[in-house]
Amino acid sequence: MGFRPHAKLNDKMISQENLTSFLKYRPIKIGSAEVREYPTGNFSLYVDNVEWMDYDVNDHFSAREQFFEINIAYGHVLVTGLGLGVRESILLSKPEVSKITIIEKNRDVIEIFNTLCIESNINLEKVEILNIDAEFLEDFQVDCIFLDHYEHEYIEEIEKSVRSISKKNQCSKLWFWKAWVSYFIWIIEKRENIDYQNFQLWCNNINIDNLERDVNEDMLFEIRKLYDYYIRNLGFTNEYQRTTTRKQIKSFLGRSRKVK
Ligand SMILES: C[S@@+](CC[C@H](N)C(=O)[O-])C[C@H]1O[C@@H](n2cnc3c(N)ncnc32)[C@H](O)[C@@H]1O
Repeated sequence: MGFRPHAKLNDKMISQENLTSFLKYRPIKIGSAEVREYPTGNFSLYVDNVEWMDYDVNDHFSAREQFFEINIAYGHVLVTGLGLGVRESILLSKPEVSKITIIEKNRDVIEIFNTLCIESNINLEKVEILNIDAEFLEDFQVDCIFLDHYEHEYIEEIEKSVRSISKKNQCSKLWFWKAWVSYFIWIIEKRENIDYQNFQLWCNNINIDNLERDVNEDMLFEIRKLYDYYIRNLGFTNEYQRTTTRKQIKSFLGRSRKVK
């Protein structure tokens, strides 16, 4: 299979290193949701005292790992899982994105996002937030769907959920958090390299309707960088990644950086 050029949305690819949240974080608690600040300068989001994600102001990893969605986004974008609004704040800054529909099941997380947006001078004109459960999404017709209401699930459960949501809604580009872990596991198991053909084979194998499969050389370069980052910093192994949550990934990254 030959090289197929990417449907170009930007003149330039936005590389991982250039991605940071546009929100200014601070400690804040509203009802069941809380943003805590650590002495390292990092911020974590807790819902009912369970940690959902963190934002590392030193490496911006939570922004960096979403480079693909951010690059392919255009038109009306539906996202699930608001969290610290990292992805959302970046999508809002993209002129190619005309509208963002955010699906978040926790009302207090939404209130925190709204408060931080006001404080960070982020214009929410393009945003619609729906306080509903993403697992019941149906009949949406949008340009892009990016799913990230996951954290504690195994990859197989995430893929099952993504498959089901993609069948019940229409879009031309779909992506989900942990897709890279799924792809990298596939690459390791098959002892393959990251290239266009293998990306297509993995897409066929994962069998998710509308999963974005159009990658050019610039995008593959970014994917390899993320893979190297995982291998170098995480001691990436299949079993480890299968069971690893975002929080564990981050804490492992923190530890490995210190021993360098
Ligand atoms: C890891 S965070 C998302 C991070 C976000 N993408 C970012 O860039 O900051 C996951 C979010 O999903 C929400 N969530 C969990 N299960 C959900 C569901 N079934 N429907 C909608 N939102 C859900 C959580 O409350 C949390 O805010």
